[in-house]
Amino acid sequence: MKPYEILLQENKEWAAKKLAENPAYFERLVHVQTPEFLWIGCSDSRVPPDQITQTDPGEIFIHRNVANLVVNTDVNLMSVLDFAVNHLKVKHIVVCGHYGCGGIKAAMSNKDYNQALNMWLQNIKDIYRIHRKEIDELQNEEQKQKFLTELNVKEQVFNLAKTAIIQKAWNADKRPDLHGWVYDLHDGIIHPIVELNAGTDIDPLYEFHHL
Ligand code: CO
Repeated sequence: MKPYEILLQENKEWAAKKLAENPAYFERLVHVQTPEFLWIGCSDSRVPPDQITQTDPGEIFIHRNVANLVVNTDVNLMSVLDFAVNHLKVKHIVVCGHYGCGGIKAAMSNKDYNQALNMWLQNIKDIYRIHRKEIDELQNEEQKQKFLTELNVKEQVFNLAKTAIIQKAWNADKRPDLHGWVYDLHDGIIHPIVELNAGTDIDPLYEFHHL
């Protein structure tokens, strides 16, 4: 059997198992999804959002990219955000990074990853630059990477709060709350790093009036 055929085989077995456990398992989700959460995570294969949170299909709306960035010129991310906030009306948005993130490591190096990836990673380099003093005070590379991973998650949560999409929802609906988490590959535990509840004051520079 070819590797991709194993995936299809596993899929059939999974569907049969779910149906055996609950005959309505698939039917209940055919017409509507009402997830409470939007998850913005890293594309890394070792951090599968639904598995590490034991959630079922229908529970989390998911967007993943390299190093879980919220970039306001990213049409993909912004469309997901718009749909999740304004149509699905999610109550919580989680930005989840992870220690050992290849994107963070790459951004800390001086390697040329070619244009597209260089552009993407520059967002992380900018965070390093802003916090250079605190980061460089740390003893070793691993500590620096971990700290930058946490700073990155914070920054992405702030980036969400800077958008008119979030500010409008906060004004009109008192949701969603924003959460920044970091997952540890070593023990599978998620560590909350930052929380911005709906309506939290942000830097006035980023506030939009008359929303
Ligand atoms: Co990663």
